[in-house]
Amino acid sequence: MTMPSTAPDPELPATEVENGGEGELEETPAATRTPDQWWRSAVIYQIYPRSFADGDGDGIGDLPGITSRLDALVELGVDAVWLSPFYTSPQHDAGYDVADYCDVDPRFGTLQDFDSLLTRAHAEGLKVIVDLVPNHTSSDHRWFQEALASPEGSAERARYLFRDGRGPDGSQPPNNWQSVFGGQGWTRTTRPDGTPGQWYLHIFDSSQPDLDWTNPWVHEQFADILRFWLDRGVDGFRVDVAHGMAKAAGLPDYTPPAGTGSMGGGVTLAPEIEGHAAEDPATPPYWAQPGVHEIFREWHAVLEEYEGDRVLVAEAWVDPLEKLADWVRPDEMQQAFNFVYLETPWQAPALRSVIDESLAAFGGVGAPSTWVLSNHDVVRHASRLALTAENPQGAGIGPKSPGQPIPDIGLRRARAATALMLALPGSAYLYQGEELGLPEVIDLPDSARQDPTWFRTNGARYGRDGCRVPIPWEATAPGYGFNTSGESWLPQPGEWTRFARDTQLGVPGSTLELYRLALELRRSHGLGTGSVDWLPGYSEQVVAFRNGDVTVIANLGTTPVELPAGEVLVSSDALPEAVLLTDSTVWLHTL
Ligand code: GLC
Repeated sequence: MTMPSTAPDPELPATEVENGGEGELEETPAATRTPDQWWRSAVIYQIYPRSFADGDGDGIGDLPGITSRLDALVELGVDAVWLSPFYTSPQHDAGYDVADYCDVDPRFGTLQDFDSLLTRAHAEGLKVIVDLVPNHTSSDHRWFQEALASPEGSAERARYLFRDGRGPDGSQPPNNWQSVFGGQGWTRTTRPDGTPGQWYLHIFDSSQPDLDWTNPWVHEQFADILRFWLDRGVDGFRVDVAHGMAKAAGLPDYTPPAGTGSMGGGVTLAPEIEGHAAEDPATPPYWAQPGVHEIFREWHAVLEEYEGDRVLVAEAWVDPLEKLADWVRPDEMQQAFNFVYLETPWQAPALRSVIDESLAAFGGVGAPSTWVLSNHDVVRHASRLALTAENPQGAGIGPKSPGQPIPDIGLRRARAATALMLALPGSAYLYQGEELGLPEVIDLPDSARQDPTWFRTNGARYGRDGCRVPIPWEATAPGYGFNTSGESWLPQPGEWTRFARDTQLGVPGSTLELYRLALELRRSHGLGTGSVDWLPGYSEQVVAFRNGDVTVIANLGTTPVELPAGEVLVSSDALPEAVLLTDSTVWLHTL
């Protein structure tokens, strides 16, 4: 049996083959196809507004741009979108430094633009999740400006973590915590008379002061912020740094165990977020403290004030998974990102274990597992999966990084990894551009880089700009159709013509058609609500399981794998002589 990857009949676009000629995607809005508690099996597409589509041509994507391109996501076949922050912000951390939680930054549009986006998305059957950034505000936020202008010990200061410095003149920071982005985690203030004052904590950039979540006032503000967006009709929130809001009492010094990152915790893949993982027993005093759960319960109750089915999803770099499962107990969040899965190397035994562990851990508390391979903080998986051991990828990849990925291997593995992920039960997250097979942009000029990590480490860590470059829509349009002016806040590579959406749409075997077909089949075969039954008889280097009537085989070894009987539904690669080659995944229909 020889089957091309995504379209057995080269005359027909891939999605139409499975549907017997007429694609159903355009005809059936996603919302009508998802069961109750849609988020349990939803495929959720992350939009990074700066880089998705730019309606006004200023080089920064915006909400009208997103609205104008929603059709493409319906055509892709996702259930929901998650929008990274578009709120008022000085943009020192690309919007994760919020100066007004209840307004839209003029760079991205207006509240009316948001309402139009939401209305349009809902009309198209797409749910909309927005980002909530509760660990810290921007230093431009009115709350922080008032705190700076108020005396030490005032109610305004109590919104944040202001402390006296150590040493006779208070010139040493209150403790030894470091910023995730590099450098120390405290900045000293200056009093109105020009003398040095107290210090404030910022686990991220100095422009991102941490809020004090022991203060009931902070709780009240955020309940109101949730209601503000729920009243507008959003379907949920992705909660930024959900493991960081509660700090250990007394803010004790903490020295990460040797061999872990600057902040401790054992994450090796992503220094920008390194140290997020709170591995027992050496839990850093700023991550995964028990106090976070009270906050989640409060928000769960706020969501329940509203009709319908809404979701809180935790960005929580917590390891092991059994501990992360506490984040999604029945009265807390509905989902948590499975970063343990994202960080699993491209090795069959490791993948089998993480799948088992994920289903057991989340299932143990009645929550769906989630799956994710890329986002705006990590090296895109079309490059990451081909990195060599000499490059722990979290520093981002730049021109001088060791162990540069080989693009063809990266793309091949990325396609196989996605085909494996989309066959798993639970909810899957996609990051804009991965459906085009986009690689990390490695050779950005130093002068273009914008990630605070780059600046706070004096260029020692490249940071995350390489996964944030505006995505290509049309091969021959200015800016690849990102806008009509050709402006782009990060330069787009010259060779992206082949990744452009219009180069791939309807082209059998393209990465875009692979995603479209896999998403359609995932829905029609109910894989998101199914289960994993491991298949015996395969080599250690193969991941093979059944989910309902679909057999899924991923070959991570070097020996070709013979295909069992069954109709090929989708394959990440061509299937010469009825064998599955290295770094590819196939789905077969088996009764
Ligand atoms: C989260 C975001 C990341 C941001 C950080 C600080 O990890 O995903 O982009 O820099 O929080 O808000």
